[in-house]
Amino acid sequence: MKRMLDLRSDTVTRPDQAMREAMRNAEVGDAVMGDDPTVLQLEKMGAELFGKEACLMTVSGTMSNQTAVLSMTGRGEQIIVHDRSHMYNLEVAGLSVISGVQPRPLPAPEGKYDLQTLEENMIGTAIQTAPTTLICMENTFDLNRGLAIEKNYIDQVCRLAHSHGVPVYMDGARILNAAVALDEKPDVLCEEVDAVSLCLSKGLGCPVGSLLAGSAEMIGKARRMCQMLGGGWRQGGILAAAGIVGLGRWRELEEDQRRARSLAGGLARLGLQIDCDQVQTNVIRVELGSLGLGSREFCQALSGFGVLAKPIETGALRMICHRDIGDEDIPAVLAAVEDCLNSLDR
Ligand SMILES: Cc1ncc(COP(=O)(O)O)c(C=O)c1O
Repeated sequence: MKRMLDLRSDTVTRPDQAMREAMRNAEVGDAVMGDDPTVLQLEKMGAELFGKEACLMTVSGTMSNQTAVLSMTGRGEQIIVHDRSHMYNLEVAGLSVISGVQPRPLPAPEGKYDLQTLEENMIGTAIQTAPTTLICMENTFDLNRGLAIEKNYIDQVCRLAHSHGVPVYMDGARILNAAVALDEKPDVLCEEVDAVSLCLSKGLGCPVGSLLAGSAEMIGKARRMCQMLGGGWRQGGILAAAGIVGLGRWRELEEDQRRARSLAGGLARLGLQIDCDQVQTNVIRVELGSLGLGSREFCQALSGFGVLAKPIETGALRMICHRDIGDEDIPAVLAAVEDCLNSLDR
């Protein structure tokens, strides 16, 4: 049977043989009791990668985000989020429900707050106000565009926030893609942020998992909060072993990004509308506007030609390159798209 080329997300990546082998051979203990050696090793690697004092392995990006906010804020406070961020839109209102904070969404069209607007929206403590106690960022920005946010801008936000005594949290689900695109070391990119998360289960190809890094004090609290949410591991080493393999080869994300650029160029040549300057990492946003087609209809038709893409708006879809899509698959995706376009009554 012909293999489906699944470009809906990098979360569809499956652990390869090396990862499965490492999981099979993992030395384990009880991570809640603090003695799973493989979890401890992964957390040490995570802390070093981001240049932070400590690190915690969690179940998912969502759990890292929610654990971070729960650990860095108190009920009745306000946190600033991007209006298009994952934390604000796709985490089942966890910010309000779990942490009891009021998210204040601000526009950040290219993943960047306007610094003056940001400062104007940082609220102090008064009898009627919910004080701002956390600024959140996302890198790469927007799961449907994957924009790489550079250090200089991150540092400006951090300096502003810190001048008001407010910490900064980075949802870095795909921050290693940003690091590769910007040719920046993750610890340098995140030097000024107070805490940062990373997903192991996306481009790194692990079956599950995320890392949350920050100060020893913050991670100490996060460890308890994560336990409260039911995220305490027991023999977590089996999953941490996959994370160790994934972290050991994060620079290979460059391959996915090279393929994404090549695929984006090919799709544009087929007449699809793509802003190639915005293909900065592994995500390609495709506009179908000029074709007069709905994205659901198009993705459905495309699946008949062996390619899966994700509809994101009525007239737009996304494709994400990842380690299970090789060089030889790019011409196959382009041929399928071309056949699909020819088959549609336009
Ligand atoms: C920016 C961002 N943050 C957080 C998450 C959540 O990760 P998870 O699916 O592991 O909960 C995602 C998932 O796509 C994401 O894109």
